[in-house]
Amino acid sequence: MNLIAELEGLVDKLKTQLAQAVSLPDLEELRVSFVGRKGALAGLMNKLKDLAPQERPAFGQKANEIKQILSDLLEKRLEELKAQKEAADLVTFDATLPGRQPWRGSLHPITQVIEEICAIYEKLGYDVVGGPEVETDFYNFEALNFPHDHPARDMQDTLYVNEGIVMRTHTSPVEVRTMLASKKPPVAVVIPGKVYRRDSDITHTPMFHQIEGLIVGKNLNLCDLRGTLAYMCRSLFGKTVNVRFRPSFFPFTEPSAEVDISCIMCNGKGHIDGQPCRVCKTTGWLEILGCGMTDPNVYAFSGFDRECTGFAFGLGVERVAMLKYGIGDLRLFFENDLRFLQQFS
Ligand code: DAH
Repeated sequence: MNLIAELEGLVDKLKTQLAQAVSLPDLEELRVSFVGRKGALAGLMNKLKDLAPQERPAFGQKANEIKQILSDLLEKRLEELKAQKEAADLVTFDATLPGRQPWRGSLHPITQVIEEICAIYEKLGYDVVGGPEVETDFYNFEALNFPHDHPARDMQDTLYVNEGIVMRTHTSPVEVRTMLASKKPPVAVVIPGKVYRRDSDITHTPMFHQIEGLIVGKNLNLCDLRGTLAYMCRSLFGKTVNVRFRPSFFPFTEPSAEVDISCIMCNGKGHIDGQPCRVCKTTGWLEILGCGMTDPNVYAFSGFDRECTGFAFGLGVERVAMLKYGIGDLRLFFENDLRFLQQFS
């Protein structure tokens, strides 16, 4: 049989079979069986060596021609099948389906509580200010009237950066900075920020947030302090919340007090449906901040007249947020688990 005729026969054979190839895998199968390394064309070309030397050039040339024709036919069919597939995909694409909702970021609950508390005080005419987190012993302790042997200076609580340099253990040093900068009263500021302590367990983290408040003016007294803080507590936790003051001690205030609010879980009853309230441990009260009338020594350290009057307070933001949102575990604020955070968006 004439090898050239066999070569030419491949073209018709491929044409017939291409007409039946309806998918991309079908087509690939044909490509392999015709022009693949072990395909029909390769099989014929192997016979080149059986030909008489003078017949070989003509055969070789013909084989190349046929190979080109086969490849073109396969290529053309490939384009057709691809176009068909695209058209079919378009038919099943439904442009009216709702899109996937992108997740919108939101403020961290701690930031939300900070903003809420600052807004309460801004309404009362206070300014919001900040100060450094790395602080000197002078601002963090000395100017706040901490005696040199006061236990709060102990390495136990304080993270020291250097001799005389600390990570601030509270926001109170910014009170002194504010007074030194303003030179004379009146002053009314709230100071939100991060504070640091050598403390780490389920209820303490080495970094947490506080909000400090300071007002200095004329004839300010304990009633003003009580009224201001009661107003804040009711704005935060609801109008029916009761507030009580317990005598306490801070080096920078005299007199000093701690403020409790009636428990927001059991409404101050200590029990819920006969069961002991776990949040207030049956006392009916929750401690929420420390405060007092600023000690004249602090005014003196801050360049103010000892005769000024005013008060200050400091609260823990995480604690307020836990009470406000009923969160039982402090660590949730620091893990940044989106399933937790998305509940505050
Ligand atoms: N600085 C105190 C602390 O970190 C909180 C505090 C108590 C701040 C009484 C005050 C205050 O301004 O008057 O524990």
